[in-house]
Amino acid sequence: MKISIHTDKPYDVLVENGALDRAGEYIRPLFQPGSQAMIISETNVFPLYGERLTKSLAGAGFKVSSCVFEAGEPQKQLSTVMQMYEAMAEKGFTRSDFIVTLGGGVAGDMGGFAAATFLRGIDFVQVPTSLLAQVDASVGGKTGVDLPFGKNLVGAFHQPRMVISDPETLHTLPDEYFADGMGEVIKYGCIMDADLFGRLERGEVIDRLEETICRCVECKKILVEEDTTDKGRRMILNFGHTFGHALEKLQNFSGLSHGLAVGIGMVMAAEVGESLGVTASGTAERIRRVLKSYEMPTETDFEFTQVMEATALDKKSFGKQLNLILLKQIGDCVIHPIDRSYLVLRYKIAAEQARRKQ
Ligand SMILES: NC(=O)c1ccc[n+]([C@@H]2O[C@H](COP(=O)([O-])OP(=O)(O)OC[C@H]3O[C@@H](n4cnc5c(N)ncnc54)[C@H](O)[C@@H]3O)[C@@H](O)[C@H]2O)c1
Repeated sequence: MKISIHTDKPYDVLVENGALDRAGEYIRPLFQPGSQAMIISETNVFPLYGERLTKSLAGAGFKVSSCVFEAGEPQKQLSTVMQMYEAMAEKGFTRSDFIVTLGGGVAGDMGGFAAATFLRGIDFVQVPTSLLAQVDASVGGKTGVDLPFGKNLVGAFHQPRMVISDPETLHTLPDEYFADGMGEVIKYGCIMDADLFGRLERGEVIDRLEETICRCVECKKILVEEDTTDKGRRMILNFGHTFGHALEKLQNFSGLSHGLAVGIGMVMAAEVGESLGVTASGTAERIRRVLKSYEMPTETDFEFTQVMEATALDKKSFGKQLNLILLKQIGDCVIHPIDRSYLVLRYKIAAEQARRKQ
């Protein structure tokens, strides 16, 4: 299946079982014959899929090399990007050469950032191998690295020339990371695709992964085309993230994974929405049931006030106000500015009402 993304430079997202072995064939028309391709990947994914991708690119007539870094978020930093610059400089890369990222969101974000900045910008192709990267991170052109004092603080918008997603690569993805990706799938259902949410409720998405990934990419396409540089409506992708990030922060980023924290954050946001009368009642319960059916947690032991304090540095909060993404109902959401202290009060009242009902 092919989805075309119409940004300044349009590009296709291909979602297809077995696409890894056809990557060279697919990208051949985009680059000059004989150009250099550098595969940017990491130590978990490259041993699994590096050889097949190399063979496919070489078969299409490209000169292929690779730069493989230690897997994991801690490596998403400038010194790793420096290794990529060095590898490309050594190979004498020019602007007609290109990068192919192979891996999850970390390889994609960092390889994309190296492409955005080396020689003031060269082309890159994304070959995402985690569910999170296939449904979200590989599309939309956000690239970057973490700094010691915060995630994704340095980066650039740089759209790939093509995204090639092979759902078969997900067979080797560890369960915990699959759950992270499912958190994002559920989020798309919540914010803009009630039909997808219905399929999640009926347990129909895992057996039809190719279709599920496409539906998520179609959702992201709408937002990316409308708001390429993430200054407006694309913000709705942060549904559940305000509280989710706060939960991650409260556990020093070593407790719940990002996806699981966002899952709980989505329930909290729905509860807040219901208490404000913005969200249709019963929505939080529907999200809770779906999360549980994918064995994801739905609540936290932290007090709501602690979570609120931890949102203070959230990039969507401005001083006393917080820009919350709230659902009107499943499949439809709004950006809802709200005063922090009012929010704490409302949440306490809602919790008290729920306690009395029991
Ligand atoms: N650019 C964006 O728009 C965007 C959006 C969301 C998240 N992100 C970023 O994405 C990153 C998280 O992505 P992620 O969860 O993919 O992280 P990741 O790249 O660290 O991958 C998760 C783990 O799965 C392993 N892995 C990946 N694919 C595999 C496969 N097919 N088989 C076996 N193991 C595999 C990786 O080695 C890693 O251990 C974060 O850095 C986040 O900031 C970016």
